[in-house]
Amino acid sequence: MVRSTAVECGATVWLTGLPSAGKTTVARVLAGRLRTEGRRVEVLDGDEIRRFLSAGLGFSREDRHTNVQRIGLVAEVLARNGVFAVVPVIAPYADSREAVRKRHAASDTPYVEVHVATPVEVCSERDVKGLYARQAAGALKGLTGVDDPYEPPLTPDVYLPTQHQTPQESADAVYTALAERGLL
Ligand SMILES: Nc1ncnc2c1ncn2[C@@H]1O[C@H](COP(=O)(O)OP(=O)(O)OP(=O)(O)O)[C@@H](O)[C@H]1O
Ligand SMILES: [Mg+2]
Repeated sequence: MVRSTAVECGATVWLTGLPSAGKTTVARVLAGRLRTEGRRVEVLDGDEIRRFLSAGLGFSREDRHTNVQRIGLVAEVLARNGVFAVVPVIAPYADSREAVRKRHAASDTPYVEVHVATPVEVCSERDVKGLYARQAAGALKGLTGVDDPYEPPLTPDVYLPTQHQTPQESADAVYTALAERGLL
């Protein structure tokens, strides 16, 4: 029996942005398209990760950094082994994201940073999880982009102004960027 030992090319696609920016929505549409085309895909969503891999971590700067590094490690391992790791996670700090990028560079694993760049005013109107309303009512403190920092990427690989796009258009823009980089 002849067995191929070649590992298919994977990549990490990290979608960073404010709460309700559209990260999960774009990740799901993109993942669906990649799966339809026969790719192996894992979506590492922030909420699920926090229940398991990062259970016990809070929302201090340090804990947010640790959360992002753990997710970055898992994504890199997946991507290095031929999986598309799609990561819709806020990742508010530039140095945390940079460390994840470096981890990928060290193993020559493709890493694509997507800024889901929806303005805070639009996010707070969408308010999918009711976080902006709770923050405004004084029931929640430390909401990213409102009373907790968000450092936008200065040079993202893909920039998505989702207030002017449908989810499909946003996901297609990411897909095109992957194709342009020779990753598909
Ligand atoms: N172009 C677009 N891309 C993505 N989402 C969009 C777009 N246009 C409108 N939306 C809507 O914005 C909302 C985004 O919610 P979503 O849960 O994806 O945000 P999120 O960034 O994952 O937030 P959180 O950080 O709280 O998990 C959805 O209701 C989605 O339908
Ligand atoms: Mg989400």
